[in-house]
Amino acid sequence: MAQYDVVIIGGGPGGYNGAIRAGQLGLKTAIVEGRGKLGGTCLNVGCMPSKALLHASEMFEAASGGEFAKLGIEVKPKLNLVQMMAQKAESVEALTKGVEFLMKKNKVDYIKGWGRIDGPGRVVVKGEDGAETVLETKNIVIATGSEPTPLPGVTVDNKRIVDSTGALSLPEAPKSLIVVGAGVIGLELGSVWKRLGAEVTVVEFLDRILPGTDTEVANAFQKILGKQGFKFKLASKVTGATASAKGVKLSVEPVAGGPAETLEADYVLVAIGRRPFTQGLGLETVGVVPDKRGMIANDHFKTTAPGVWVVGDVTSGPMLAHKAEDEGVACMELIAGKAGHVNYDIIPGVIYTKPEVATVGKTEEDLKAAGVAYKVGKFPFLANSRAKINHETDGFVKVLADAKTDRILGAHAVGPNVGDMIAEICVAMEFGGSSEDVARTCHPHPTRSEAFRQAAMGVEGWTMQA
Ligand code: FAD
Ligand code: NAI
Repeated sequence: MAQYDVVIIGGGPGGYNGAIRAGQLGLKTAIVEGRGKLGGTCLNVGCMPSKALLHASEMFEAASGGEFAKLGIEVKPKLNLVQMMAQKAESVEALTKGVEFLMKKNKVDYIKGWGRIDGPGRVVVKGEDGAETVLETKNIVIATGSEPTPLPGVTVDNKRIVDSTGALSLPEAPKSLIVVGAGVIGLELGSVWKRLGAEVTVVEFLDRILPGTDTEVANAFQKILGKQGFKFKLASKVTGATASAKGVKLSVEPVAGGPAETLEADYVLVAIGRRPFTQGLGLETVGVVPDKRGMIANDHFKTTAPGVWVVGDVTSGPMLAHKAEDEGVACMELIAGKAGHVNYDIIPGVIYTKPEVATVGKTEEDLKAAGVAYKVGKFPFLANSRAKINHETDGFVKVLADAKTDRILGAHAVGPNVGDMIAEICVAMEFGGSSEDVARTCHPHPTRSEAFRQAAMGVEGWTMQA
């Protein structure tokens, strides 16, 4: 019987990054994955395929929507959806193979099949052929991720009514698409199909988009999406759906009460959040009890059962790949007797639309609620020379700093490439940096990163270029 220091159940960003770190630290490690490929939701049906389609559809729109013509490039693009999907699948395949290579490189055993905890220190893996393998281990790490939250009354068939996985592989570019949920998935995948020709209507329960995001940024972003042609039905609830071979009829009512209406579309995407996935995991055999949503609580990645740890979407915190990755790494460091740690105050969030949205740290609403005195520095992309020259002037950067100490407490932006640039603020915050530190750091010109510098200057009132 195989004996391990660590058996990780789930091969997503939490599991596979943890496995790499465990291998580096000399722990005898196995990773168990049931879907037949490593990489989890992120590589197979999440981050990576969605970014592949966001990139391709952005190119298509630039070519067909007037942006190329404005630059003096005249083309008549034709959508080849089969090729667009094929290049997505090729990239995903290469990435999952890359993770498999990294397992070998770090001497991690990749065990294919669905894992089940079978009492302390035992994991039973059921392979595709039904055969069971027993693994004995000092530590079990649960990294089983999450799945889409179902919407009562609306059955996802992944034909006409799809979840994010279905929306990544539609067989045609719809003429009309209704997205239920104005969250990250709805706005990213809504953008993909909008750029490829769909009329997109977003139905959201709350009276705003992107709950939890800095309100000023979310409102500005909604206006920009509105200009792009997105329609929003806020404060509205979906009460039922009927799908036919041709499309979907959706019953929608105002949350505050009032007459119901029927919306019709070729396809409906349900994206109202994700919930932890723990099905068939045998948690009862070690006495771990998940909460009502299926979430397994942790204390420094430890569950209530000795030797059983948990990381990623299946535990508390934002459901993001980089958060899962950091937890996987820190968890293995703790198992190896080192000082693993995740700073939950500095986990950035990015929405990869055009323009992008990027946030880190506290929002203005958080600071007001906590009674913290803060200063704000803001800078519009309209005044950033590189953005201007590239005709990408929508959006702004906002830096929030402590009114007394000037320590950066958060940064929120909507604009071109802000998803890459927010990392600068994350580093500054990790070092306990002040707005002045960013403001006095020489930034390359002409780059969009100067907008972050100018916003930081604004905290002390000396923004120069606006
Ligand atoms: P997962 O990636 O869900 O991996 C868990 C794995 O465990 C799965 O492969 C599953 O098959 C396996 N598993 C479950 N139970 C068992 C079992 N019993 N035995 C064996 N294997 C099992 N996040 C970002 O940060 N950036 C993005 O751009 C982004 N885009 C996204 C786009 C979409 C459409 C979606 C749906 C999600 C996106 N996310 C993004 C979220 C991101 O995918 C998740 O936060 C991340 O994958 C969580 O990693 P994880 O390792 O916790 O779980
Ligand atoms: P989400 O939590 O981002 O948004 C769900 C939205 O649906 C919210 O606005 C919510 O108010 C709304 N909603 C909830 N119930 C509703 C109902 N009954 N009717 C109408 N609206 C309703 O969830 P989403 O978009 O499904 O994404 C799931 C997770 O995946 C997120 O936690 C996100 O972190 C992750 N993800 C991250 C990405 C990124 O980092 N770029 C991209 C895609 C997903």
